[in-house]
Amino acid sequence: MNSCLMCGSRVSEFISFGPMPVANGFLTPEEFAQERFFPLNVGLCTTCKMVQLMERVDPGTLFHEGYPYFSSTSRSMSDHFQAFAGLVKVEYMDPADPFVVEIGSNDGIMLQHFAVASIRHLGIEPSTNVARVGMAKGINTVCEFFDQDLARSILDEYGPVDAFLGANVMCHIAELDSVLAGIKLLLKPEGVLIFEDPYLGDIVEKTSYDQMYDEHIFYFSVTSLGHALEKHSLELVDIMPQKVHGGSMRYVVAHRGARPVSPSVTAQCAREDALGLGLVETYERFSRSVEGSRKELMALLHDLKGQGKRVVGYGATSKSTTVTNFCGITEDLVEFISDTTPDKQGRYTPGAHIPVRPYQEFLADYPDYSLLFAWNHAEEIMANEQEFQNAGGKWIVYVPKVQVL
Ligand code: SAH
Ligand code: TYD
Repeated sequence: MNSCLMCGSRVSEFISFGPMPVANGFLTPEEFAQERFFPLNVGLCTTCKMVQLMERVDPGTLFHEGYPYFSSTSRSMSDHFQAFAGLVKVEYMDPADPFVVEIGSNDGIMLQHFAVASIRHLGIEPSTNVARVGMAKGINTVCEFFDQDLARSILDEYGPVDAFLGANVMCHIAELDSVLAGIKLLLKPEGVLIFEDPYLGDIVEKTSYDQMYDEHIFYFSVTSLGHALEKHSLELVDIMPQKVHGGSMRYVVAHRGARPVSPSVTAQCAREDALGLGLVETYERFSRSVEGSRKELMALLHDLKGQGKRVVGYGATSKSTTVTNFCGITEDLVEFISDTTPDKQGRYTPGAHIPVRPYQEFLADYPDYSLLFAWNHAEEIMANEQEFQNAGGKWIVYVPKVQVL
């Protein structure tokens, strides 16, 4: 029996993607033989409603000195984090002696806005290669995994925190209880934890099953998160839906009773009830939609191959590892995947072993179709690729449904 990481009750598995490689484990042909695969199964805790991975990969295997995800590769994400930092500066910092901490600070996409304003800050980033990029921008960074022990040493060295921030990282940490206990310890009496992650409601509604991969251990809802916070005497005081990453939720958390609770929190819980986010049947339906999506995408790709069309992938995302391996997409259907990240170029995608090539190769010889693996950046990408479209190029997307645009 699988026990819930948050409350210890039984977790009911609703989807199995089969063995998967490390989602960000881009590799060279010499490494193919040693590639490791792990089960990717997702379940719902019917007690506290937390959706979570049934088995997990050791964090050291995922986050290390060669982590290939650099946050600053998207213009719209840079704008997003500038706005996020601006909100925190205005609304949540004590002007007397402000101190902000960010977990999973990566290349400094958010903290750079505090550093330039000479605000006391600390980034916590265990992947040393991306952390170094942040440090070169003048961001004070500690290269460790955050937990309760690290929280104690931060408190000793720097004192308490006004705003503890996180984006696309809280859902990555199986030891969420230790993280929350550490944050509880660090926050000033009026301090806040503000973080955002892909939102479960969007994943279910849009069948964005590619959000499910080894790094994403939790798929939060307002309801499940509320339960997780309770035992740490923390409380959700506000929520703010975000467009990024296909639909995310930003959560504002404070010490219990320290701040008024916005009515939006209870309203969202009611919406989640109406959507059935706590019910096994909802996920059984989701699982059937995923199967339907796989069949449609494969039928389309085989059809295009039959017509002799060239298909190239756009964006070697972590999400694409789930899609290519689950659907069985290999180089015979998708010639290569174009990506702007130098650390991914010249390597091969995990499991499916599709070549990752520099973006310039996409530009130099437009394919007939481009399979948009970075669909969450569709607005930015399609605006940039007017010429591809003018030349007759078409997009294939699979979220919320398989279609050619
Ligand atoms: N916040 C950035 C990066 C998200 S990727 C953004 O939204 O773009 C997740 C990051 O969290 C990685 O850089 C990873 O190294 C880091 N991370 C993973 N586990 C962590 C932990 N326990 N403590 C701090 N950072 C962690
Ligand atoms: P993203 O969708 O942010 O994340 P994840 O890995 O979590 O699924 O990844 C975007 C990837 O797409 C990243 O490798 C950079 C690449 N990319 C491009 O190649 N061109 C672009 O215009 C953009 C926005 C991203």
